[in-house]
Amino acid sequence: MTPVLEWVDVHYRFPASSTPALCGATLRLEAGQRTVLLGRNGAGKSTLLLQANGILRPSRGQVRVAGVPLDYSRRGLQAARRQVGLVFQNPDDQLFSASVAQDISFGPLNLGLSVAEARQRVAAAAARCAITDLLDRPTHALSGGQRTRVALAGVLAMEPRIILADELTSGLDPWIRQQVFAVFNRLVAEGVSVVLASHDLEVARHWADLVAVMDAGRVVAAAPPDHVFADPALRELLGPVAPWGDGVMG
Ligand SMILES: Nc1ncnc2c1ncn2[C@@H]1O[C@H](COP(=O)(O)OP(=O)(O)O)[C@@H](O)[C@H]1O
Ligand SMILES: [Mg+2]
Repeated sequence: MTPVLEWVDVHYRFPASSTPALCGATLRLEAGQRTVLLGRNGAGKSTLLLQANGILRPSRGQVRVAGVPLDYSRRGLQAARRQVGLVFQNPDDQLFSASVAQDISFGPLNLGLSVAEARQRVAAAAARCAITDLLDRPTHALSGGQRTRVALAGVLAMEPRIILADELTSGLDPWIRQQVFAVFNRLVAEGVSVVLASHDLEVARHWADLVAVMDAGRVVAAAPPDHVFADPALRELLGPVAPWGDGVMG
């Protein structure tokens, strides 16, 4: 089966940085897969996700969407972004329109959909993310959890086949978190491949089909959670399960 998304030996260094952020990262994703991307701060998770829809371009290696190498022309990127939706680590990087409805409709209108079609997409995405009551709000008057769901709805409105969520669930209250995972699960059931970059080992263990572990710019493991968590070297790399796990609390 052709992977829906694939990074092949991707290398990348930020212009301002002397050390590479990615140095040979390889990972393949299937349709309808729940992937959790783990790794310490600075391991390269965000950089890897930013390569997937062409915001960043590898200096070496390749990103392939449905088997086809990314085309970095304007049209190519537009086509890629129809397939690959990215929710940024910081929703403030994503929300820039005056109102929530305008913000969510930005992507669909950009795809060339009619105003009526875009409106339908906005309504459907907002309903999924339980933010219908926020549609007329100014984006600057939202709480953190609301911003996160608006950013997610903006990506859903593009109806991508792959959704990459960069630490989306960090800092959400348990109710909203549960709601976001319900949205993910429904997408997965529809065949969408969902990737969540996270530090949450419990989510990786219990929610993921595939756990990908990054370290120093490489994907050092990509396997089902049982396999990853049974490996002592990977466990060591992932750190303690909870701060009180090794006697911190006495
Ligand atoms: N905009 C940037 N400019 C320069 N270096 C960056 C930038 N963003 C990230 N980096 C560096 O790239 C490496 C990977 O970072 P990142 O992909 O953000 O890791 P993670 O998401 O796993 O925490 C780190 O060394 C980080 O300092
Ligand atoms: Mg990051």
